Amino acid sequence: MKVPFFTPWITDSDKKSVLKVLNQRWLTDGPALKKFENLFSKFIESKYSVGCSSATHALHLSLKSLGIGKNDQVIVPTMTFSATSDVVRYCGAEPILIDVDMDTFNILPEKIEEKITNKTKSIIVVHYGGQSCDMDKIMKLSKKYGLQIIEDCAHALGSTFKNVKCGNIGKAGCFSFYPTKIITTGEGGMITTNDNKLQLKSRLLRSHGVDKTPSIREEKALWKYDIIEMGYNYRLDEIRSSLGLSQLKRVNQINKMRIKIAKKYNQSLQTIKGITIPKTKKDRNHIYHLYSIKVEDSYKLSRNELFKKLSQKGIGTSVQFYPLHLMSYNYTKYKNKKNEFTNSNKLKNQILSLPIYPTMKEKQVNYVISCLK
Ligand SMILES: Cc1ncc(COP(=O)(O)O)c(C=O)c1O
Repeated sequence: MKVPFFTPWITDSDKKSVLKVLNQRWLTDGPALKKFENLFSKFIESKYSVGCSSATHALHLSLKSLGIGKNDQVIVPTMTFSATSDVVRYCGAEPILIDVDMDTFNILPEKIEEKITNKTKSIIVVHYGGQSCDMDKIMKLSKKYGLQIIEDCAHALGSTFKNVKCGNIGKAGCFSFYPTKIITTGEGGMITTNDNKLQLKSRLLRSHGVDKTPSIREEKALWKYDIIEMGYNYRLDEIRSSLGLSQLKRVNQINKMRIKIAKKYNQSLQTIKGITIPKTKKDRNHIYHLYSIKVEDSYKLSRNELFKKLSQKGIGTSVQFYPLHLMSYNYTKYKNKKNEFTNSNKLKNQILSLPIYPTMKEKQVNYVISCLK
């Protein structure tokens, strides 16, 4: 049997929605983006949503809109995708890596405080795998030191902390619609915020820093436009927006289906010696964008051997993440500081993400379980 690590779920109504948009005159900067942004704000309960071409670009626009630049420092977890720290470098600022919790793989708030300097301007927290960080502790640090909190919600569409949606707690939330994510547009992203200045600035920078978009110029019969600032082309076109809109309509169903599979995994895997199932803290939910187990020393195989063995049996798994401080790109900077990351150094040999997605069949879930057993 084949069990790929991930398969996107594209329905007939998703396809219809995309085809419909192809008959529009505006294929970018049009009505589908507006509808997608409005429904997104409704779901997150944020005042504003700004669609963009990826979560990477959503993070970059958020930092730029907050004025992060040269000589600034931004705190990020080491156990994340490179995009979370790359965007800090895009701004000319310095990412400061922090270790993560052994149970949730989320950034350790206790470790943040000792790294705050007068250069620190912001913290990007990552809600690993679809479970929120400890946002009470993070927001306390934000108040105490005047730091802007950006939530990297690439995994967290529908995650909550004390019943508040992730993406509606810090200054901005940044979501990904990459094909493996909760909903997909192929490539795409979204910023959520309650800050009017941030949303206006992000919209401006998303489209070259132009004061009037082409659709507004047409509507107002004005040719004149100005470039207020250097910007980017980080737009989310109508084709992708229409796919996102159609998918967002069933996001609760998608998350329910993932949670159902996670429960089945939890029940069956918790009794296997040497396998630690994901832990959920009591003041938050888990939507299982990732179902990441820990393969402990007492299991019969190492994590790497298990990865290989499952692959031979037709099961796709993945390692999320290999810590950033050990990547070649960062190696020189962190060469003498490797011991600061005790937990991540251990987790890097233990974590394994199992297949989990709405289209996964019960017999596929059972097959993964029986192979692990
Ligand atoms: C935690 C995290 N942040 C950001 C990103 C970047 O998302 P995108 O591919 O939409 O730019 C990813 C992608 O996997 C991610 O896992």
